[in-house]
Amino acid sequence: MRSAQDTWPLLDRERELTEILRAYRERGNGVALVGAGGLGRTRLAREAQARLGAAAQWVAATRAGATIEFGALAHLLPEDADLSGGRLTVLRRLTRRFHDAGEPRTALVVDDAHLLDHASAAFVHHLATHGPAFLIVTRRAGATASDAIIALEKEGLVTRRPPGRTSRPGGASSPTVRWSGPPCCAATAPRPGPRCWTPPTWPTS
Ligand SMILES: Nc1ncnc2c1ncn2[C@@H]1O[C@H](COP(=O)(O)OP(=O)(O)OP(=O)(O)O)[C@@H](O)[C@H]1O
Ligand SMILES: [Mg+2]
Repeated sequence: MRSAQDTWPLLDRERELTEILRAYRERGNGVALVGAGGLGRTRLAREAQARLGAAAQWVAATRAGATIEFGALAHLLPEDADLSGGRLTVLRRLTRRFHDAGEPRTALVVDDAHLLDHASAAFVHHLATHGPAFLIVTRRAGATASDAIIALEKEGLVTRRPPGRTSRPGGASSPTVRWSGPPCCAATAPRPGPRCWTPPTWPTS
């Protein structure tokens, strides 16, 4: 699903997208798109999801959703799933879903992973450790996040890259792209001129 704002053409992200898709093809664990607010993390993740097609599943974490355990992941479970065994059962059911999916392996896109409740975050970490899925995780730099989400990068499940933020004259900059899998570039080079993308300004009233 795309938002109305995504009907604007995507600019300056071909390089990141190529690398994300390559990491998927080469069976890396996943990528974390880490950056400050408004840098275009969601848009980049959306585009990656679109290019991966049916193989990709979208999870949107929100502060409100975090008040419900596994709330952000509810759509990944069958409605009639017997969850009477509690959290461990949910975690196992979700993991099995990704194992059963077979090939092409599923890419799980988790937008704003820093907002996940602890149970969902534990699942994402579990999937990165034991599951066959490819992860695309966006996270706001500096925001408090579950230790399970921080651990994705810290434990090298998603390989750390040196911060590679590149500002463009228009003010937008590329999120730091942290990778698992083969080394690759972290950010697009500055590109002055008419192709520069400037974050939209919104009416204040
Ligand atoms: N490369 C791009 N080309 C064109 N438009 C873009 C690009 N990146 C982002 N945008 C647009 O800029 C706006 C902000 O981007 P987005 O919501 O992806 O940022 P974000 O980093 O996810 O922000 P937040 O911190 O609020 O989660 C959206 O309208 C999006 O469609
Ligand atoms: Mg976002």
